[in-house]
Amino acid sequence: MPFDLDAIGSRRGEVAIVTGANSGVGFEVSVGLAQKAIKVIMACRNLKKAESAKQEIRARVPDADLEVIQLDLSHPESVHAFARQFTERYDALNLLINNAGVLFRTPTMSSAGVEMQFATNHLGHFLLTSLLIDLMPDVRTSRVVSLSSLAHKKAKIFFDDINCELQTKWDVPYAQSKLACLLFADELQRKLKLAGKKILSVAAHPGGTDSGLFDHMPKFVLTVLRYTFVPIFLHSNERAAKPVLMAALAGGLQGGEYLGPTGLFEMKGPPGTATRTTYSQREDIGARLWELSERFTETSFKIQL
Ligand SMILES: NC(=O)c1ccc[n+]([C@@H]2O[C@H](COP(=O)([O-])OP(=O)(O)OC[C@H]3O[C@@H](n4cnc5c(N)ncnc54)[C@H](OP(=O)(O)O)[C@@H]3O)[C@@H](O)[C@H]2O)c1
Repeated sequence: MPFDLDAIGSRRGEVAIVTGANSGVGFEVSVGLAQKAIKVIMACRNLKKAESAKQEIRARVPDADLEVIQLDLSHPESVHAFARQFTERYDALNLLINNAGVLFRTPTMSSAGVEMQFATNHLGHFLLTSLLIDLMPDVRTSRVVSLSSLAHKKAKIFFDDINCELQTKWDVPYAQSKLACLLFADELQRKLKLAGKKILSVAAHPGGTDSGLFDHMPKFVLTVLRYTFVPIFLHSNERAAKPVLMAALAGGLQGGEYLGPTGLFEMKGPPGTATRTTYSQREDIGARLWELSERFTETSFKIQL
């Protein structure tokens, strides 16, 4: 199933939310959506960065229809405030791109005492989706897109150690959070289908791209990587955004797909079906994670029949 962004026509009149729209993949996804005349709500935690990204998008897409609304996914009250503002201003949401993400090398906790990557990458998006799903028209072009990662392949959900305090490898919490995003996308699709909805939940991963995600790395390591590893194994932010744009805009999707680059080690290349672990497809784990997420976000996430 090849995907050609240029072949997608105008979608004027539609509204998309892109979390983390000011940087990396989210920035390029916003450019792609704006090129299709979709209004993009840039849901960003840092207003200054968001405003400057907005100008950069306008430089590439002069008639881009953009609005910045502040969102910090690691704070539930900020997610509620964002949803309130959006709901006051808009009657419908066509695309929800759950893109924002963090990667930490050292243990970091949210203000609510939850491991920060799980809190931001998964729980924040879970809560956001629960608050906005009822605004989505019941058609197949309505999409919730969740960003996972190749990192999901070495992960499981530590239900008895969700903050990963007993885990010794530094990258385990990130991998767990990205697996959670993938399990969430599937469970959401199952629940939408069960409720007889046409809205689709699709997961995607960008492969590997040199973005703000690696800013925490020591400068000299980054410099060495940028001359060696990056040009061979990674692709540009623009190309990395393609699987996400495919998940958001491609026709012929049924929901429950997992899309990513199909080239070298799935780190780069044209978008298509991505490979995934058997664990990531387990419905019992998806259902258990859903219950845990409802508890942690103090929300009851039901799809209206
Ligand atoms: N880069 C890769 O190779 C790679 C590989 C696999 C998956 N991914 C996934 O791709 C997605 C996009 O990442 P990226 O590579 O584009 O990284 P990036 O350039 O660092 O972008 C991440 C975005 O998320 C935002 N963000 C972080 N914490 C937030 C919070 N608490 N509330 C709201 N927004 C927040 C960041 O805002 P600030 O600018 O304010 O920090 C930034 O806009 C992530 O989900 C990531 O896990 C990336």
